[in-house]
Amino acid sequence: MQDVLVGIRTYLVENNLEECEEQVSEIRRAFPEARLLLVNCGLDPTKRMTASVDEAITYSPRPTGLGEPTKMILDYAREKGFKELVVIDGDQQHYAEEIARLAREERGRADAVVPERKKRFLFARGRLDGKTIEDLMNAFLRSGVKGGTTIPDLTPGAYVIYQPSKLHGKNLTAENSWVGDLLLVQEMLEKKMKIASPRIGVRPNVYAISSENLVFKAIEQMERFYAAKLDEIASKVKENPYDYLYGGNLGLIDDVLDAYRDYQYKKKIVKMKALVLAGGKGTRFKPFTNTIQKQVFPLANKPLLHFIMEKIARTGITEVGVIVGPNKDQIRDCLKDGSNWNLNVTYIEQDNPAGLAHAVLCAKQFLGESPFLMYLGDNLLHEDVTNFLLDFLNSKAAASIMLARVKEPQKFGIAELDENGRIKRLLEKPKNPPTNLAIIGVYAFHNEVFNAISRIKPSARGELEITDAIQKLLEAGRPVDYRVISDWWEDTGNSASMLDANARLLDELKDAGSDAHEKQVDATSVVKGRVSLGAGAAIRNGSTVIGPAAIGENCIIDGSFIGPYTTLGNNNKVSSSQITYSLTLDNVVLENAKQLVFSIIGKNSRVTGTGKHEENAVLMIGDDTQIKMT
Ligand code: TTP
Repeated sequence: MQDVLVGIRTYLVENNLEECEEQVSEIRRAFPEARLLLVNCGLDPTKRMTASVDEAITYSPRPTGLGEPTKMILDYAREKGFKELVVIDGDQQHYAEEIARLAREERGRADAVVPERKKRFLFARGRLDGKTIEDLMNAFLRSGVKGGTTIPDLTPGAYVIYQPSKLHGKNLTAENSWVGDLLLVQEMLEKKMKIASPRIGVRPNVYAISSENLVFKAIEQMERFYAAKLDEIASKVKENPYDYLYGGNLGLIDDVLDAYRDYQYKKKIVKMKALVLAGGKGTRFKPFTNTIQKQVFPLANKPLLHFIMEKIARTGITEVGVIVGPNKDQIRDCLKDGSNWNLNVTYIEQDNPAGLAHAVLCAKQFLGESPFLMYLGDNLLHEDVTNFLLDFLNSKAAASIMLARVKEPQKFGIAELDENGRIKRLLEKPKNPPTNLAIIGVYAFHNEVFNAISRIKPSARGELEITDAIQKLLEAGRPVDYRVISDWWEDTGNSASMLDANARLLDELKDAGSDAHEKQVDATSVVKGRVSLGAGAAIRNGSTVIGPAAIGENCIIDGSFIGPYTTLGNNNKVSSSQITYSLTLDNVVLENAKQLVFSIIGKNSRVTGTGKHEENAVLMIGDDTQIKMT
């Protein structure tokens, strides 16, 4: 019967197989007499590994924390009556030979050996990795917080326990973290086992397998275990850095704290919901809204709502309620179940478009207690909204609004600020605007907005206004936060703003490269600037296309000029025509139509001119229409 059990913990992935193979054979050489048990998660051990060990167990495809395999190793040692146990990680952090030497040296002198590491960086450099967490654990232990020990250092990756039978089954799995190892050491201390803490070397440049999230999760576990916050530990470390830092960089502590805070907030964002308003009549965008719901109108050949879904998905929110009114089938067709963006879409019907606050009321059941992002389905903004939500969740505000500086504030809902820069009140289209800060269509609310909505009456235009509800919050002394956006924003309420939004989006087109369109452009035609050409599109017979422009699939451009900021839908036929800063939908025919500017042409429509037209023509034509220009 062998006396010594060496338990090796590995998490095998494609790029560490060789490293672990090497380490396992090194362990074999260092412990020739011992029984080697490999406890593994991730990929299966290789042949070379299984040849080096006596037994291999793969317990999970994913890592469940070091506590789990440690417990398996301990149980195994106890059941089989091993006198001595060594636990060591299968990566190359530690020199197996050195651990074997320490075990030999301390045998008979101590009940357990928990080596102190020579080289250590508290709050690891650059990205967070597995070592950071060990270092944090060391800091926890050393900072004397509740439950802390006097062990000068702790290296969970390598320890030796004599008489494993002395340890009785504490729950070492401790959910999903390295805390299991701390529990083990804690137990040794409680049992007054004599612990030796010699120094141990760490191999330089070792590869540590750990995702940031795993590290953050482990930090959370430690906070719970020690009933102390990372901030607390960090401030202790900062007070006495040389007690904790061996060559570490003090500045990095704040980086880790920031990253951890971000992680905490992001977790809160995931619990938020989003409410997208895609109902309403869209009267200002007639005639197009006679047949198409404004929020699915394509800009740069993509429905408006798709841009909004992309933006929401980027925040980490997954539950999205979509308010639908007229043409609800168009919205459903456009978004389906949301899985294209990894979102979960719930459709909420609003039987009549009685205002933005009314739409929120319709979603009461869907929103439940969650804070939520409210996004008007016709608003486009360049800025990412994640920080807006993070700031909101981190504040005590009841609501937060996004504001944009505008040229004609008298045309907008405006925020008035007090001398401290806080929102004092909201004004709807004021004659003498106190600021140029317009309220745009992105809001964040806590659930208390429902109470405010219950206290408002329909406005002069007969709608329950969300600005009135926010005003009620302010009147009740509840703070309303805001963020002034620094980049562009378009409220696509009417044709002019749709065209401007289209232009903004075309501006974002990437350069396709000089020969990208070679096969689609004949020798007599020219395509200049950033132009996207759909599959099957052809530019021919002396045509010129100047970007930024988007041309849909199977369009034929014949002897024509397509000027900047133009989007053509699919299957357009454009011959002997000129069109600039305009937008067409699918199956449009332009024939001898000269000087079209600032125009929108609905699907299946046909514009025929005589070719003699000299002045600019602005056309707003709905679907299925035929126009003759003379
Ligand atoms: P608005 O632009 O205020 O209204 P609307 O889209 O009906 O347009 P118009 O004023 O030209 O008639 O609405 C902003 C967004 O909110 C828009 O995406 C539609 C949506 N909305 C609803 O979902 N329900 C409503 O009751 C209202 C008023 C708007």
